Amino acid sequence: MDDQLARVLDDLYRAGRAHDGPLADRLQRLRNMTPDAARLIATLIRARRATSVLEIGTSNGYSAIWFADAARDTGGRLTTVEIDGSRAAVARANLERAGVREYADVVHGDGADVLARTPDASVDLVVLDAERPAYAEYLPQLRRVLKPYGVLAVDNAVSHRDQVAAFRELLTAEKEFAVALHEVGDGVLTGVRVLS
Ligand SMILES: C[S@@+](CC[C@H](N)C(=O)[O-])C[C@H]1O[C@@H](n2cnc3c(N)ncnc32)[C@H](O)[C@@H]1O
Repeated sequence: MDDQLARVLDDLYRAGRAHDGPLADRLQRLRNMTPDAARLIATLIRARRATSVLEIGTSNGYSAIWFADAARDTGGRLTTVEIDGSRAAVARANLERAGVREYADVVHGDGADVLARTPDASVDLVVLDAERPAYAEYLPQLRRVLKPYGVLAVDNAVSHRDQVAAFRELLTAEKEFAVALHEVGDGVLTGVRVLS
């Protein structure tokens, strides 16, 4: 990662923390992923040589910059989905400022709709960082869209353990996924789709 990109990420993260601090309403907060969690997922993108990466929950594009930078290295592309149009616009501007806009498509929409229209076995890595109660409903589509040995990564699996518990149980019960919890940042749950 070049110095300019590292500086943009650092600035954005600090500004995000300062923005969120005084806000009581969680939905008003930007809720950026921790740098450690984003770095872990960016590492998985590179290790998997993922060329098709899908993120649900863009916010202002902080984690999307990490993933677009990794996708640049693999010759791939990130699609990141945000339900709030003004946030999607801010994310596009932040990706531009970071110099990785050309490696990312920011979709203004509902992650469930985007998953439903994603072709079978077409995605190398999916990141879930949106509304946790919805994840269980995504599971059949996640199973369908991930390539064999594709990776699912779910943030906040430790910080919001209770809210992720039902999804974690469902995923663990699936024979098709090898599941692991990583105590990095706010906790990253991964599932590798081991059967085709
Ligand atoms: C935790 S924040 C994402 C943080 C972002 N990944 C980052 O690290 O900068 C969650 C975001 O998901 C968005 N969101 C909530 N439900 C969604 C849905 N069904 N589809 C797409 N985005 C959604 C919210 O508007 C919010 O901006």
